[in-house]
Amino acid sequence: MTDLWQEAMDHAVNVARKAGEIVREALQNERKVMCKSTSVDLVTQTDQKVEQLIIASVREKFPSHSFIGEESVADGQPCVLSENPTWIIDPVDGTTNFVHGYPFVAVCIGFAVEKTLEFGVVYSCIEDKMYTARRGKGAFCNGEPLQVSQQKDINQCIIATEFGSNRDPAVVDKIFSNMRNILCLPVHGVRGVGSAALNMCLVAAGSVEAYYEIGIHCWDIAAAAVIVEEAGGVLRDLEGGPMDLMSRRILAANNQTIGERVITEVEVFPAERDDAP
Ligand code: IPD
Repeated sequence: MTDLWQEAMDHAVNVARKAGEIVREALQNERKVMCKSTSVDLVTQTDQKVEQLIIASVREKFPSHSFIGEESVADGQPCVLSENPTWIIDPVDGTTNFVHGYPFVAVCIGFAVEKTLEFGVVYSCIEDKMYTARRGKGAFCNGEPLQVSQQKDINQCIIATEFGSNRDPAVVDKIFSNMRNILCLPVHGVRGVGSAALNMCLVAAGSVEAYYEIGIHCWDIAAAAVIVEEAGGVLRDLEGGPMDLMSRRILAANNQTIGERVITEVEVFPAERDDAP
């Protein structure tokens, strides 16, 4: 019997590679930058072009499937995860990096069936690293299996997080206070590469023990979520309980012990849900 979701995943890998080529080429040219929710929430013509390319190519092969795409939602499309097979796309995760030529930029394609994530493809296109995972079948980078770190002592960890794009001073204070709490545990270090998906892939690869952020969107994390879990990691909502794709918060960790320890140090602040009416 044909494995339809494997066909879909193979298609995702191929289209992510093509999209990555476009992103790499665009890096050599002048980039026209526009703003979305705030003056530091950036979008470029490349984000839009790449998303259109991915959606058009998937639609041709799987006409009945649904889409949630970062730029389509910015254009007013609904951000609703239904039971229908749904492609969750971030054409350029790390747009600010892209604009500045900071070399961590990823094309992210997640795929959910009946609201459960089935596979994830994250192509770090400057590094030429193709991260892939399918539910129950392991996680890989360029075909090599991924495994999270085995560390259980928080004092021996690197924790990743981001400053995000909210510049409300009260929110920035909370972000700094959370980082201070983590840093002073103490941990070996706090890092962030400017792409939620790549921070999560670094958890999957065992290079950092955990990543947390408040303010991300479902398209930043859907693909990488499968990669973290398939590499043996855990996903949680920062308020406790399982990860909620639409909640704008995430904790991805190598194990429960480290994950829970990070959660106790992070104070959650409000961010409007992705699926808010
Ligand atoms: C952003 C990046 C960034 C994170 C932001 C995201 P985008 O995604 O993942 O690291 O801090 O919260 O919105 O806008 O570049 O796709």
